[in-house]
Amino acid sequence: MTFTRKNADLTPIEDTVFSVVNLAKKDRAENGAEHVIDATIGSLCDEQEQLTAYRNVFAHYDAIDDKTKAAYAASFSGNPDYREAVWNWVTQNTDLHLAHSVIATPGGSGADSTALRVFLDVNQTVILPNIAWGSYNLMASENNIETAFYTMFDGDHLNMSSIKETVLKVMEKQDRIVLVVNDPCHNPTGYSMTIAEWKELIAFLNECSKRMPVILIDDIAYIDYSYDLNHVRDYMNEFNHISDNVMIITAFSCSKTLTSYGLRCGAAVIQAQKEESVREAEIVFEKAARATWSNIPNAAMANFVWVTSKNRDAFMQEKQTYIDLMKERSDLFILQAKACGLPFYPYKEGFFVTLKIEDKDRRDRVHEAFLKNHIYAVKVKNGIRVAICSLPVRKIDGLALTMKTIMDSVQ
Ligand SMILES: Cc1ncc(COP(=O)(O)O)c(C=O)c1O
Repeated sequence: MTFTRKNADLTPIEDTVFSVVNLAKKDRAENGAEHVIDATIGSLCDEQEQLTAYRNVFAHYDAIDDKTKAAYAASFSGNPDYREAVWNWVTQNTDLHLAHSVIATPGGSGADSTALRVFLDVNQTVILPNIAWGSYNLMASENNIETAFYTMFDGDHLNMSSIKETVLKVMEKQDRIVLVVNDPCHNPTGYSMTIAEWKELIAFLNECSKRMPVILIDDIAYIDYSYDLNHVRDYMNEFNHISDNVMIITAFSCSKTLTSYGLRCGAAVIQAQKEESVREAEIVFEKAARATWSNIPNAAMANFVWVTSKNRDAFMQEKQTYIDLMKERSDLFILQAKACGLPFYPYKEGFFVTLKIEDKDRRDRVHEAFLKNHIYAVKVKNGIRVAICSLPVRKIDGLALTMKTIMDSVQ
């Protein structure tokens, strides 16, 4: 007998991150922190391996009065000033002129999972990258949605043919397309698409949209850690060229942008050519919000508005010091990885570099060998993720060669 619904998946969540995090913690306690390479943590950490919490975010948050923290938000779709601030933030430095609406969500997770749920019927298929943040799969299965995967890379660039083939195949069996891209600063590889790739993708989706509605979910969770902030949003101008039958949902997260992972604040930015299409989506998103999390923490939204307006310059400066630090870390790792021939997926920017090990059994053996050598990283599909965001420069120096030597010793 079981109390859960008939089709509940009773296999426990296999959290590949937290199990390795615990092993690293134990190792640190037994052997001392300097002996342990902990490249598991997907949050920004400083050179002392402590979680970063921006003063330019939290000093003000702490000072917000109790009643603002206690109050419900103004609406299920979010506070009006927050919704406007998110639109301005997400589309800064662009010339986007699509009809749009913003729905406040609990982090990017809320935007991603709700988008799957409101656009797809049960048993329809969402199209995901084969190397991706693991939660997309769970979001799909929890909503009884099937998955199809495109191959992310062809050599050192996006495998556009695989995206096209996968979309066309799914079009054979259903009446709409929902495609997820996690760009820029893809988790876990650090890839960012070129403008040419974006142009080709939008042109292709426009073609597909002659036959059925197409929804593109662009997960921008790491966008604010690009190494070229002035141009990182340039690709969004391509969105202006979508046809009437294409909708874009940009999934925004304050978690990384503000180092406020636990405050659960983000947004789904709905964009289309026609106001009525946006309004329809807005209605279903708002109902989904009401029926699940109800409303988003009022003070988290208020703080985002303040940080990105009144405190913008100071916040940007503080964040930039960490972007510079991550660039120093990733430059060193990539330089040394190339020098010793350690295989990795095309990295451009962002929190993670992923070692390329396509054979699953070999990947598992390498991962096991890393653990024995006090190196803790996270297994992902076709590779092992190294969290540049949390590893200090001194521990990165020489790491690539150590990893390569261990890999070579594994059959
Ligand atoms: C690719 C990607 N999207 C979205 C998220 C959402 O994070 P949150 O729900 O904390 O905003 C994450 C977090 O790890 C992520 O890696």
